[in-house]
Amino acid sequence: MVFKVSTVSTSPIDGQKPGTSGLRKKVKVFKQPNYLENFVQATFNALTAEKVKGATLVVSGDGRYYSKDAVQIIIKMAAANGVRRVWVGKNTLLSTPAVSAVIRERSGADGSKATGAFILTASHNPGGPTEDFGIKYNMENGGPAPESITDKIYENTKTIKEYPIAQDLPNVDISAVGVTSFEGPEGKFDVEVFDSADDYVKLMKSIFDFEAIRKLLSSPKFTFCYDALHGVAGAYAHRIFVEELGAQESALLNCTPKEDFGGGHPDPNLTYAKELVARMGLGKSDTGGEPPEFGAAADGDADRNMILGKRFFVTPSDSVAIIAANAIGAIPYFSSGLKGVARSMPTSAALDVVAKSLNLKFFEVPTGWKFFGNLMDAGMCSVCGEESFGTGSDHIREKDGIWAVLAWMSILAHKNKGNIDGNAKLVSVEDIVRQHWATYGRHYYTRYDYENVDAGKAKELMEHLVKLQSSIPEVNKIVKGIRSDVASVASADEFEYKDPVDGSISKHQGIRYLFEDGSRLVFRLSGTGSEGATIRLYIEQYEKDASKTGRESQEALSPLVDLALKLSKMEEFTGRSAPTVIT
Ligand code: G6P
Ligand code: ZN
Repeated sequence: MVFKVSTVSTSPIDGQKPGTSGLRKKVKVFKQPNYLENFVQATFNALTAEKVKGATLVVSGDGRYYSKDAVQIIIKMAAANGVRRVWVGKNTLLSTPAVSAVIRERSGADGSKATGAFILTASHNPGGPTEDFGIKYNMENGGPAPESITDKIYENTKTIKEYPIAQDLPNVDISAVGVTSFEGPEGKFDVEVFDSADDYVKLMKSIFDFEAIRKLLSSPKFTFCYDALHGVAGAYAHRIFVEELGAQESALLNCTPKEDFGGGHPDPNLTYAKELVARMGLGKSDTGGEPPEFGAAADGDADRNMILGKRFFVTPSDSVAIIAANAIGAIPYFSSGLKGVARSMPTSAALDVVAKSLNLKFFEVPTGWKFFGNLMDAGMCSVCGEESFGTGSDHIREKDGIWAVLAWMSILAHKNKGNIDGNAKLVSVEDIVRQHWATYGRHYYTRYDYENVDAGKAKELMEHLVKLQSSIPEVNKIVKGIRSDVASVASADEFEYKDPVDGSISKHQGIRYLFEDGSRLVFRLSGTGSEGATIRLYIEQYEKDASKTGRESQEALSPLVDLALKLSKMEEFTGRSAPTVIT
């Protein structure tokens, strides 16, 4: 059939400024007339012509509620804008890392390559008719659009008057793999539905030694549990862990992707991954029986990860440091070495110690994955991570939840090479972490979140902390007055970053108090919240003495926590006597 293109008049809608990871709003906001259409057209208009006319675009996401409607709208608009073909993962499912992989790795039958993607996700936010939907655009390198593009998108949303759409194009069946071809005013237009996992699985097999992991998983001594929290990771977990690596079906928890994530909050942490936490023997009431050796979870779009051992939690800051320390021997992709490593500023300095000891290039960047992307494109960084449960490498330009699990399985397989058969006890996740602390020292770490605080009060608190920084001797007087048992403040500033690749400067990226013994207090306002302000307080203390690295972290950090709360006048400004969440 030949489809027609019509032009629909529209007018700007307020509040379409993309946040750290695209536009995230309640479903009912997205369902308003022209809301999604305006944003999509504003994006097309922000791209250079060759990224639209005749281009190949990926459209998919975590499968949350409204994705199925959104994908049909975007297909009709892509057709009308002269896009040559749209690639859709079956049932609109593609994890965020898989989208990045598809852009970078996939070739169509005629050699076509994608130049960008609309990712339909609100990451770890709940989904469903009364919950969140989201959309973000990723570029040709597989990474999120840089600020220059997102600013342009936002400007376009403020002036948009019309958009073209192929209204009579029939809805494409996205539940079956195959190509549907159409003919439009500008020629051919194809929609290709493909298997959500194929390209990603191929990439993972080129990075890791699947045979070595398979051997570990085949040992009755090694037990495993993976919780996808009903997010898109489920579409990969079965294929990779069960079909490729031979894990038991029963190792998978909540691995059927659901539009509403089963009513849960698809965020892999000790609070929201309740079932996994109980199975791993870490819950208030565990499930009884012997917990598995290794457990992991993902968020809605499978870019985040949580790593657990038996009755043991691995902090994300330790996880990236341990992966970096072991990557070269355990992961074939890194066998010729690491180009460099990087962490976000509030992430603990565990990675710094590894970088120093292995003589690796090291970068401390502001919060947000896009800062790593620049370093990777320039060949300066191989492994990176954030305290916010994100870990990844330069195989793609997004953080990668399943990659992190495979990295840990590889390390476990490597360390247990000689123990898999026979009676020898396996080296556990906890053993690996404790051994790491003994070698490099331990960074005790905790994060306090104060959610939905009055935005004005949050700003005042931050201003108060910046003002204090003007005199270090004065700060130290106050510090000693509050706690005589903590070290002195050596320096204090607002974190500022100059990107070594493009020279761009990012200011006001968090308030730091750095202590003489290596301890740190960091205060930041979240860039992803949807209501009021969220204050994040990151507390860290370095312990080099191997005999003192085994303490409970909340207990070890209690003097610094006390100091941080009093120094910032947290209760005075926020009216809160306790944080909303502690991680
Ligand atoms: C998203 C980004 C991460 C970042 C996190 C910070 O998940 O992808 O790279 O670490 O937001 O969130 P926050 O709420 O602390 O600004
Ligand atoms: Zn996510």
